[in-house]
Amino acid sequence: MDTDLVASHIANLEPSITLAITSQAKKMIEQGEDVCSFGAGEPDLDTPDFIKEAAIQALQDGKTKYTPSAGIMPLREALHEKLLLDNNVEYAASEIIVNCGAKHSCYQAILACCNPGDEVIIPAPYWTSYPEMVKMAHADPYVVQTKAENGWKMTAEEFEDAISGRTRMVILNSPNNPTGAVYSKEELEALAEVALSEDVIILSDEIYEKLIYNDRKHISIASLSQEVRDLTITINGFSKLYSMTGWRIGYTAAPKPSTPFRATPPRMSPASPNTALLRR
Ligand SMILES: Cc1ncc(COP(=O)(O)O)c(C=O)c1O
Repeated sequence: MDTDLVASHIANLEPSITLAITSQAKKMIEQGEDVCSFGAGEPDLDTPDFIKEAAIQALQDGKTKYTPSAGIMPLREALHEKLLLDNNVEYAASEIIVNCGAKHSCYQAILACCNPGDEVIIPAPYWTSYPEMVKMAHADPYVVQTKAENGWKMTAEEFEDAISGRTRMVILNSPNNPTGAVYSKEELEALAEVALSEDVIILSDEIYEKLIYNDRKHISIASLSQEVRDLTITINGFSKLYSMTGWRIGYTAAPKPSTPFRATPPRMSPASPNTALLRR
């Protein structure tokens, strides 16, 4: 297709470098080099048998039809339990939706909250997809370069300095891809205080919550207080923890909006049969 026909929000996207890095690493490993690949975040285990067996059973039971778009209720109820027991944060099942992978969850959350021209703060190093998702929402990524001496974590001061009149959201990814940095409770409290005082939505991508290799503990920022929970969108998924990258299951937990949405009716041509129906 002629590139002139591609919409500007697509033409402005950077291609994902994850796949390029993955294939380069594979080539180097094949050549006998000792490579630690920072490409696709894919566990080298197979999906556990009990999960495969449950899926086979579900298919045999005929569970192959359309489901509610927010996900089936037993799964949303199980996620409610998981978030309560594992993460100490209470989201009603009706505040949880299931998406096609956490990537889809992040994109939808950004699209749902950001207006064109809003700014989204992204601490660097970051997962390659965040800025492109922000651009797809016609919002602007604002990258904060973190420092080695701070363990590659954004400090509350750096966060505060990055906030402008256009800031709408901050993306926190703890444990972080690619650095592995895990924010402590105190560090999250300091960031949450800034977000609350400036009314900045927190998108907390917790996909690597169980992949911690020292004595650090993962804390869900939404568990800090009711006020923080009310400003936070918590995202997680099954890809990394259960080695289910190809299954494409992620989820989003967020407070219900306090005011109802205002829908704009579609514009209709005078000749449209639907308009004729409305006029009758
Ligand atoms: C930080 C981060 N968030 C989200 C995702 C997306 O995960 P999913 O496979 O659930 O879409 C990835 C995948 O690499 C990731 O690294």
